[in-house]
Amino acid sequence: MKIRIAKLPGDGIGPEVVEQAVKAVDAVCERFGHSVEYTFAKVGACAIEEFGSAYPESTHKICMESDAVLFGAVGDPKYDNDPTSKVRPEQGLLAMRKQLGLFANLRPVETFKALVHNSPLKEELVDGADFLCVRELTGGMYFGEKGRLDNGDTAFDTNIYHRNEVERILKLAYGYAMKRRKHLTVVDKANVLESSRLWRQIAQEMAPLYPEVTTDYMYVDNAAMKLVTGPKFFDVLVTENTFGDILTDEASCVSGSMGLLASASVGEHTGVYEPIHGSYPQAAGKNIANPLATILSAAMMFEYAFGLAEEGKAIREAVSASIDAGFTTEDLGGTRSTSEVGDWVSARIKSSGK
Ligand code: IPM
Ligand code: MN
Repeated sequence: MKIRIAKLPGDGIGPEVVEQAVKAVDAVCERFGHSVEYTFAKVGACAIEEFGSAYPESTHKICMESDAVLFGAVGDPKYDNDPTSKVRPEQGLLAMRKQLGLFANLRPVETFKALVHNSPLKEELVDGADFLCVRELTGGMYFGEKGRLDNGDTAFDTNIYHRNEVERILKLAYGYAMKRRKHLTVVDKANVLESSRLWRQIAQEMAPLYPEVTTDYMYVDNAAMKLVTGPKFFDVLVTENTFGDILTDEASCVSGSMGLLASASVGEHTGVYEPIHGSYPQAAGKNIANPLATILSAAMMFEYAFGLAEEGKAIREAVSASIDAGFTTEDLGGTRSTSEVGDWVSARIKSSGK
């Protein structure tokens, strides 16, 4: 198969971790006989510096013409500390999601046997937890009308959802629930928010269409607690954009490190495969960041974008092996650098095929 990947490392540790994922992709393509072509493009702070836009048209064109986007992270403290700044690196990611129509963000949370002790949660709580967070990605407060009134002293963000947006994400979540343990938890705040009541109403209409799936409804505050007191409860968790953003950072504690959580953003056009962690500017250029979340995102890319399950599995096996061998970065208790882990994983992918 011929694969065209748009490579968007972005800012901070993005370039370092994406480089390791590229090594894994190359290794798997070599082993399975695929040809791969990368097209580099800028997004985030680095794009603002060069083009004045966090997601320039030229980058969008490259994404549209590729089979998948391998993305690192965006963000720079320079902008974080300036709330009046008109352009922000994060706008690049949001524009990319919106323009590519990526309404669903899939964030699987799994535990690795060798790492359960690394979780801040009790071992017996997390051991065996395995669930999928489905976060709506192009609606809600992130994209609703926002602004300032009252000479800037009043600010608002609108949490708005249309039926179509809710139906399509729930349909997708039910699809995954059917393929998994047939348990869907719809997370909302229907006791307070009108938008949540719409979500719940639509979920209740759709539930009878999936009689094999057990659907339950949970308020987001309760879900936040359940994620740390009983994460094994969950199979597929679906929620709106802002709740999903918050809950998935929290959920990363289950696997032990933010550096392990991969994600796929899918929808209408080219899908984006990205780690859930941010640009971690304090670590940028130090070769200490954990590349596994990005490498695992590359595994998702083979599975979701190309339908190549064996290739995805080969990457996952190599990642698990590196963890079992203790060949990890500091956040996982190891002593290895970013590039050493990347080299180890790619060598393992190649050697396992022999
Ligand atoms: C994420 C990130 C982004 C988000 C930021 C960088 C805009 O936190 O992918 O979870 O809030 O969606
Ligand atoms: Mn986030």
